[in-house]
Amino acid sequence: MAQENWGSRIGLVLAMAGNAVGLGNFLRFPAQAAQNGGGAFILPYLVAFVLMGIPLLWVEWAIGRHGGLRGFHAAPGMIHSLGKARWLKYVGVFGLFTNLGIAAYYCYIESWTLAYVFHSLIGTFRDVAPTEFFPRYLGQHANSITSLPGQASFWFIVTLLLNTWILSRGLQKGIERAAKIGMPLLLGFGLVLVIRGLTLQSGDPGVVQSPMAGLNFVWQPRMEGLTNPSTWMAAAGQIFFTLSVGMGSIHCYASYLRAKDDIALNAASAGWMNEFVEVVLGGSLLLPIAVAYLGLGATQAATAGGSGFGLGFLTLPTLFNNWGWFAPIAGMMWFGLLFFAGITSSLAMGQPILAFLEDEFQMDRRKGSLLFGALVFALGFFCVWLYPGGAFDEFDFWTGTFSLVVFALLEIWVFAFIFGMERGWEEITRGSDLQVPRIFRFVIRYVTPLFILAVFLGSLVKPQGNDWGGSLKGLFAGQGWTFAPDSVIGKLFHLGEPSCVWFKEGQVTPAFVQDLTRLLLLLVFLGCGVAVWWAFKRRAQGLGEAQP
Ligand code: ALA
Repeated sequence: MAQENWGSRIGLVLAMAGNAVGLGNFLRFPAQAAQNGGGAFILPYLVAFVLMGIPLLWVEWAIGRHGGLRGFHAAPGMIHSLGKARWLKYVGVFGLFTNLGIAAYYCYIESWTLAYVFHSLIGTFRDVAPTEFFPRYLGQHANSITSLPGQASFWFIVTLLLNTWILSRGLQKGIERAAKIGMPLLLGFGLVLVIRGLTLQSGDPGVVQSPMAGLNFVWQPRMEGLTNPSTWMAAAGQIFFTLSVGMGSIHCYASYLRAKDDIALNAASAGWMNEFVEVVLGGSLLLPIAVAYLGLGATQAATAGGSGFGLGFLTLPTLFNNWGWFAPIAGMMWFGLLFFAGITSSLAMGQPILAFLEDEFQMDRRKGSLLFGALVFALGFFCVWLYPGGAFDEFDFWTGTFSLVVFALLEIWVFAFIFGMERGWEEITRGSDLQVPRIFRFVIRYVTPLFILAVFLGSLVKPQGNDWGGSLKGLFAGQGWTFAPDSVIGKLFHLGEPSCVWFKEGQVTPAFVQDLTRLLLLLVFLGCGVAVWWAFKRRAQGLGEAQP
């Protein structure tokens, strides 16, 4: 199969930035910032970007280009090519699993945004309050945790067909073109909404406070976050999600580079572009508008859970109604912006799967895209159908939060200690248009892995109420440790849930849905593992695309 390449440097950087810039920038970031004290969140967030985000970007770009030159465009083969041990390829299973798992629930959110563009334009939210519309749309109105919402299913299928179609067109005509169209439109829509939001005045109908209060809340750095472990955990989690590191998608995009194409500057540019869009645009949109109309306290309350869905899908479409004739257009722009942000990221989750099928099973692009679409449909259907029972949240936690950290930890360790920092540094700096400060050799080898390890351990044993100081004191005083319900251990043992029975009054319970979803995810992980085993068996028989 002919090797594909990026059409142009700007196309590559836009595709990589499109991969990173996603729903996380506009929904998750403001919600996480609001939940973690606004300006107190920003400093740990920036430190995590420099000490963890940027080094991981360089490492993933380097692993990708190194693998691509050896005929590997998906994580298993790439990690395999970093050393001699036979188990290395199985580290790359995370790079398939994470993309598939995230794509399943991410494309579902993406489909909400498409549906909301439609409903904004036809004026639905003038007649029906979004607080009523959204739960009904998700199937939460029925007195059951297993109802299949018809409209949501329809938009989900439309979204998947779009993703599949773009992927099937290939790197340059599909992904690169989508980024070249989507990114400028996203920035344009964002800019219009930021200007409209920030020019709201105290005398305008419904406005209770200057939108600048919202801006100050996020942008005025405050030191206290630096001493709070839970702020660090939230900041690091956001850096992972927003940069798409630990997924396997950056590796894949970078595998289409040529031997001497720059990595250092391109990776840094895409990373900084993401940060610009996240902090400057993402930080100036949702919160200032919400704060202007609701005040700071109510806005913060609306971000409970940290996903941003409340502000994005309930609050904002309601507030747009204050904008008269501009309301449908503002709705179209807000949800259109989210849609473009989402699709340029979900395409990046599809390409590694497609590349794996192409490389290992000589599947053509059309068939590979269709298979990806079908897999995401099957998994995503679970999220659509069992959303009210918590399947969606399980996908988000295990694939979008936990798996990223595990993969990142393993890959940076393999890169720095098995591939070796000598070769690793050469890989990062070869053809570089930017002088990478030598201090990053040390950072990549020691600081970043320790940072990720701390995040991993922290998420494992996060204490009740996120109270690290009190919990540590209690531990030393012999009172033991109480795990938070959303720590990995808490999740595994269903801590904090009223009951762990699977059936009640003839109905399945959320605990059943959660365990069923975990079983499904485990099977998907094992399935990816078997696919990797089979692929390498074929290679050994001389059937693979490139020989290891
Ligand atoms: N990086 C993507 C986002 O922020 C996944 O949504």
